[in-house]
Amino acid sequence: FKKLRGGFLSSVPSTQELKEAASFDVNKDESTVSITVVGASGDLAKKKIFPALFALYYEGCLPKHFTIFGYARSKMTDAELRNMVSKTLACRIDKRENCDEKIDQFLKRCFYHSGQYDSQENFAELDKKLKEHEVMGVWECLAKFSFPSVVMWIGGLSDKNITSDYWSQMDTALLLSEDIPSTFRNEKQRLQCMKELNVQGGRVSNRLFYLSIPPNIFIDAVKCTSSSASSGLGWTRVIVEKPFGRDSDSSAALTKALKQYLEEDQIFRIDHYLGKELVENLSVLRFSNLIFEPLWSRQYIRNVQLIFSEDFGTEGRGGYFDNYGILRDIMQNHLLQILALFAMETPVSLEAEDIRNEKVKVLRSMRPLQLEDVVVGQYKSHTKGGVTYPAYTDDNTVPKGSLTPTFAAAALFIDNARWDGVPFLMKAGKALHKKRAEIRVQFRHVPGNLYNQNFETDLDQATNELVIRVQPDEAIDLKINNKVPGLGMRLDHSNLNLHYAERYSKEIPDAYERLLLDAIEGERRLFIRSDELDAAWALFTPVLKELEEKNIIPEYYPYGSRGPVGAHYLAARYNVRWG
Ligand code: NDP
Ligand code: BG6
Repeated sequence: FKKLRGGFLSSVPSTQELKEAASFDVNKDESTVSITVVGASGDLAKKKIFPALFALYYEGCLPKHFTIFGYARSKMTDAELRNMVSKTLACRIDKRENCDEKIDQFLKRCFYHSGQYDSQENFAELDKKLKEHEVMGVWECLAKFSFPSVVMWIGGLSDKNITSDYWSQMDTALLLSEDIPSTFRNEKQRLQCMKELNVQGGRVSNRLFYLSIPPNIFIDAVKCTSSSASSGLGWTRVIVEKPFGRDSDSSAALTKALKQYLEEDQIFRIDHYLGKELVENLSVLRFSNLIFEPLWSRQYIRNVQLIFSEDFGTEGRGGYFDNYGILRDIMQNHLLQILALFAMETPVSLEAEDIRNEKVKVLRSMRPLQLEDVVVGQYKSHTKGGVTYPAYTDDNTVPKGSLTPTFAAAALFIDNARWDGVPFLMKAGKALHKKRAEIRVQFRHVPGNLYNQNFETDLDQATNELVIRVQPDEAIDLKINNKVPGLGMRLDHSNLNLHYAERYSKEIPDAYERLLLDAIEGERRLFIRSDELDAAWALFTPVLKELEEKNIIPEYYPYGSRGPVGAHYLAARYNVRWG
């Protein structure tokens, strides 16, 4: 074989030919997807990525030929990885069901390779292992597409003689060479054959890398991925986790470095809030219901509130958090992304680029955030019911005396025709009294309301409000005013409500499931484009710098409280009451 191969190399198809061949509409079932979780030993991988991949497998959403690799520096065998991963897998779809068999099948497709994030050599080893799994299809494929003469010509080898190692060593371009007698002399046939076989060995080999690692090692890993472990002819995509820099400059530097090794369409910047069911539903609610879109402007909307709160502190992530703070951790990305989706104009279509174009326009129409429109806070220790909850600075990984905000409230404005003057108020905090993420839309007063005197509460509370509860307990509530039944004329407000748990029996997929599936399918709608990112940083960078340069002292609030009162004063300045 080696002899033959030497002779054929000169007639191996050109790269252009191979690329064209690979762009045939290949049967999906005949492609392989290798998903490598870089940083597989970490928190996010265990908590979110592997469980999401299992849920996709369980639902039958992963391609037929897939392999999952964990990659990190920690030494682990395949068995150890499987053991680690198995602990976080559960039957999310139906908790009463026994998933053991499915879990076993899934784990058999999971492997591990230990290596450094900046080692080309280690990534090349990974590449070799990936290939072993990707080329398994050659023989089946040959049989399937009945090229018996090639099969015979190869040497009358029987299926059993062919090992994956053998195939991975063989340059399968050989199969496509013009020197192969008779069967492939015809160019058309040869390309057809390439379409079916592909040089990677029978299936188009696609590779997805999920960079679940700290940001300081992103670039090293991307460099190694692209030079030593990217797919030959299939696609190679890289999911990058936030944070995408700390400010405009560092974000631009990250983008520039990423683009040295990847094309923009290979980069999938993840913001997992975009994968949340109710965030996805935002556009559906607005664009497929006649009753909302006409009201969606300064004419009828008084203010919009975007609220994120967690009832726990930075537990375990203090080291990371202290370098970023709540404005970068939640506001500049999760809440701002929701805002852009909420406020954008109707896109030309549902295509990713059309939607992202509209989001960028919103972000670029916004006024950079002003210091006087920001309130920052930090949680302090609090004892309740005999239990003492720690202060942010009690975390060993947080420097003593740190001024990093764990809470912030901000008023933002979109200076365009639709939203001129409407305050978009954001509030985000850790260690607050409850966990929730909500979008609250407060409508204006009814002009000349005939029933003003019949309200028991003040008029402010009598305006309509639309609440989109992103989590927990997903729901959409529309607050309306109605007559209290009876002979008198008393007005009350009630909720027209869509409570997901009551309406739909199926559990809502985790955001990471949707986003991983989208990345596999090449759907970019829910990922952040670099110009969106630039626009988002342009809004926040000046105020972040000012906060840090002026050493602004955060307002301290007790762990488990509603947060600093400053947030109420800020809202009151714009005539807003937090919902
Ligand atoms: P971890 O801190 O757990 O890091 C992941 C892995 O990276 C570790 O298991 C470790 O693997 C390796 N690693 C950690 N620190 C270093 C270092 N200094 N140098 C080289 N390797 C290192 O991160 P998470 O799993 O929490 O998060 C991964 C990414 O996802 C980060 O970018 C984070 O900001 C982002 N993210 C995380 C969320 C979460 O809930 N955890 C939520 C949203 C985003 P080993 O030592 O085996 O190589
Ligand atoms: C992450 C933040 O992006 O989102 C964390 O870094 C935060 O600080 C988390 O806890 C919240 O995500 P979710 O999906 O649990 O609301």
